Amino acid sequence: KSLVVAVDGPSGSGKSSVSKAVATRLGLAFLDTGAMYRSVAWHCLNGRISFADAAAVEAAARTVKMAQSMDPGTEMFTINGINVTAAIREPKISEAVSAVATNLGARAELIRRQQALIAEHGRRIVVEGRDITTVVAPDAEARLILTASEEARLRRRGLQLGGTQSAEQLAEQVLARDAKDSTVVDFQRAADGVYTVDSSDLDFDATVDAVIAVVRR
Ligand code: CDP
Repeated sequence: KSLVVAVDGPSGSGKSSVSKAVATRLGLAFLDTGAMYRSVAWHCLNGRISFADAAAVEAAARTVKMAQSMDPGTEMFTINGINVTAAIREPKISEAVSAVATNLGARAELIRRQQALIAEHGRRIVVEGRDITTVVAPDAEARLILTASEEARLRRRGLQLGGTQSAEQLAEQVLARDAKDSTVVDFQRAADGVYTVDSSDLDFDATVDAVIAVVRR
């Protein structure tokens, strides 16, 4: 039967890794919607499409061929057949991605694609992003926001990037991006019926358990 688990939260909250582990434990598919925004940003940079040209960015979102593994155990993204799994995680994409996220035409297209993917997977899926609980899947069986203190989020993103970033670069990537994203989607506050899991003082396994407890309520 249908089991859509919608997970929203800010950058560095552990959303992706926790959501993947939840999907694996529950035998569900997994959709990383942030990777779709990153893919459009990569496609624009690669094709020299100007982020200042809103119509061109929207057209890019509509026409680009994106494919992704929805098996939580395999991370794989392609754009027009090119493997971009690693490329879309680069800092230059993190810096550019808000131009896609704030483009309402591109958002409408990506939301439509995400809803189609949820249906294709028989509504048995964990979906993570910024607007899943409110816009993409407000009808999900389980909806939650994964939060963490600013300090915990900066520390985790720093570890994830292998200590290659200065404190300033990290703050720019995590906090400045959240500020920009907040202008389009309010992912920091739980809507009605949405649970909040604060992972600041939980380790990875405890966070996964807390999310699964919400799903089973
Ligand atoms: O780096 P992090 O895991 O925090 O971000 P992400 O989940 O990969 O998402 C990258 C960017 O895509 C975010 O900063 C948002 O600008 C945008 N995004 C969005 O607007 N709506 C979503 N549902 C998911 C991501």
